[in-house]
Amino acid sequence: MILVTGGAGFIGSNFVIDWLTQTDEPVVNLDKLTYAGNLQNLASLQDDPRHVFVHGDIGDQTLIASLLQQHRPRVIFNFAAESHVDRSISGPDAFVETNIVGTFKLLEAARAYWQALPAADQAAFRFLHVSTDEVYGTLGPQDAPFTETTAYTPNSPYAASKAASDHLVRAYHHTYGLPVLTSNCSNNYGPYQFPEKLIPLMIINALNGKPLPVYGDGMQIRDWLYVKDHCNAIRQVLAHGRSGETYNIGGWNEKANIDIVRLICQLLDEQRPRLDGKSYAEQIMHVADRPGHDRRYAIDAGKIERELGWKPQETFETGIRKTVLWYLENPAWVTHVQSGAYRDWLDTHYGNL
Ligand code: NAD
Ligand code: TYD
Repeated sequence: MILVTGGAGFIGSNFVIDWLTQTDEPVVNLDKLTYAGNLQNLASLQDDPRHVFVHGDIGDQTLIASLLQQHRPRVIFNFAAESHVDRSISGPDAFVETNIVGTFKLLEAARAYWQALPAADQAAFRFLHVSTDEVYGTLGPQDAPFTETTAYTPNSPYAASKAASDHLVRAYHHTYGLPVLTSNCSNNYGPYQFPEKLIPLMIINALNGKPLPVYGDGMQIRDWLYVKDHCNAIRQVLAHGRSGETYNIGGWNEKANIDIVRLICQLLDEQRPRLDGKSYAEQIMHVADRPGHDRRYAIDAGKIERELGWKPQETFETGIRKTVLWYLENPAWVTHVQSGAYRDWLDTHYGNL
């Protein structure tokens, strides 16, 4: 039995679906169902007895303690977080609450549970914390990619809250001996991503005939990883990672935002041409830059490749094609996700674009 937190979000739901495709080991999925949590992501598991969904908060230590006692998992995968940089700039409170205090409470419950386990179960137990490359700050054009020993220099409230959670996880290993693993991954994309993030926002705005808002000059660089490659990497980290270690996960896919938006437009031109025969690229609009916007992220994934034998299966070109097709083929999911909370965010963040 494994416990997954945040398993109704983008990466968590992909992970749970993947896990139950690869193995029969049951999953308890704890999620608070914030605006980003969506049970429709898990619709394929609706009648699957291997999946138990629990609505709750990682910060509710009593609930976590009773779930651990009841289900006795051998692993806790912590995906639960507030995850959107722009929201962390306009409202950082929830980021401190969930990413820092919530992770702390989860660690406390995990420590109490782990300390009471029989020795063999204690040795086998893992707390796997899913984190981000954003904790390392920003790179100049010629800088080497982030390695696991790059100094933490978080620049946004989101990145700072994730950095704090990583430090707590590290301290629980160093101080109490809790067997932890931390993964720091680059930008994910793929099915079920909430359309506040770059790639789904651009696909859905394009199809709705809306502007495609590119921050600043659009030359900011991110490393992109297809979500299923990330899920596979996390399974490898669990299976073969050394307790107390951190692993950087990336796709060796550094891309400028504007190039991604242009590629999405090209794919949509090919798959779902505009009725007026023009390109979706006509909808691109440069808007005010994000405050404190990190210019470049890049991941050196050498450690996980060397030590755990993991490599991404998708190139950016194959992954982005699959992703665009998925959004085109799942209009019901798209319509549902564009509910009130999402529309409110678009109105406050982008005004009446
Ligand atoms: P997401 O925002 O899509 O999903 C987060 C999920 O966590 C949601 O289902 C939400 O309801 C749940 N949640 C939020 N607060 C909670 C709480 N207090 N208790 C229980 N559940 C709670 O995020 P995502 O993109 O799937 O990211 C998952 C994890 O991966 C996060 O920790 C994030 O920092 C990390 N990460 C994301 C990316 C990326 O590109 N999306 C890259 C690297 C790392
Ligand atoms: P995002 O998907 O929010 O991920 P992160 O900020 O965690 O990297 O943004 C990816 C990049 O795209 C980032 O440089 C900001 C930029 N961006 C835009 O240019 N326009 C947008 O509307 C959004 C949401 C992001």
